[in-house]
Amino acid sequence: MPDKKIFIFDTTLRDGEQVPGCKLNTKEKVELALQLEELGVDIIEAGFPISSPGDFSSVEEISKIIRNATVCGLSRAVKKDIEVAGQALKYAKRPRIHTGIGTSDLHIKSKFNATREEILQRAVQAVGWARQFTDDVEFYAEDAGRTDNDYLAKVIEAVIAAGATTVNIPDTTGYCLPHQYGEKIAYLISHVPNIDKAVISCHCHNDLGLATANSIAGIISGARQIECTINGLGERAGNTSLEEVAMVIKQHKKDLGFYTSIKSQMLNPISRIVSETMRMPVQPNKAIVGSNAFSHSSGIHQDGFLKDALTYEIINPEEVGADGSKIVLTARSGRSALAHRLAKLGYEYTRNDIDVLYQRFLAVADTKKEVMEEDLHQLAKQYQPESATA
Ligand code: KIV
Ligand code: ZN
Repeated sequence: MPDKKIFIFDTTLRDGEQVPGCKLNTKEKVELALQLEELGVDIIEAGFPISSPGDFSSVEEISKIIRNATVCGLSRAVKKDIEVAGQALKYAKRPRIHTGIGTSDLHIKSKFNATREEILQRAVQAVGWARQFTDDVEFYAEDAGRTDNDYLAKVIEAVIAAGATTVNIPDTTGYCLPHQYGEKIAYLISHVPNIDKAVISCHCHNDLGLATANSIAGIISGARQIECTINGLGERAGNTSLEEVAMVIKQHKKDLGFYTSIKSQMLNPISRIVSETMRMPVQPNKAIVGSNAFSHSSGIHQDGFLKDALTYEIINPEEVGADGSKIVLTARSGRSALAHRLAKLGYEYTRNDIDVLYQRFLAVADTKKEVMEEDLHQLAKQYQPESATA
């Protein structure tokens, strides 16, 4: 069976930009949209046009410039929202309106003071309005993660009948366990008679650190689109990380049988651009794009890595555009790492020299978090055996 394509729906410019402090202006959004298109994302969620004149103009400008990816605008299930989204997208070559409403009983009662039947009607009506602007309409059932499956299936069937071409099943609060989220998708596939008329999308939040696992569980169960952001940015604990899902799919190509259009070599460069533009640092231990993602610091790991990189690295850093593997020297490092780093600086020593130098190195290492290049030069300067060649 040929591998199946997973569509990557990037929402860095919408859900990602909702993060306090991450606000972007139109110029910044347009520049990032061009990078995202170059990266190979299939859909760019450019913003929420009714939310502010600035966001309207960002969606409009992105629509003018993006030619390969679909450009999407978010709206609530409100006529005015949808009309404004339609206007903001009027220059898009491939416009998509993303509309929806909360479907969990909690949202229905607490947010809308409505009934399940009323919400279902509003959902259908919203899709109908959106279809007046474009044939590409995505419906989101907000808080689907906590929505009763039977009711969710009825809503999804109705919105597909009304013309939704993608159905988004958000785990808005990041509540689901991977097997529960996977079962929800499987339930929809087996209980929604017209489900073959739409693409199922996963939109998972990371409140319990399960966003990537849940999205992968979703595609294993039959979803074909993942909504994600660069660096996992997004409301609260964030969204599914684009770089993580792209690399899970790539690394497990044989097990999963999926592929994406993402150019993996761009993952680190784009992560840095997004981090700088949004002024939001990336945690050092972040998978794929963190500064420590390819750093080795304990003696056991360093020794194994220097013998064969595959012992401690499942991804070649070049494949994701990272600077390369790093041997970081700390008080937990071993002799082979010290010899390796000294050799990289041009200092070649015998085993005996390294034994002596290692004790001196440990004395320095115990006083600081990391032994740096200048410390190594200092060590080498203070130790001048016959065997030193540099
Ligand atoms: O998390 C969520 O439910 C959302 C929707 C607006 C798609 O971001
Ligand atoms: Zn979200």
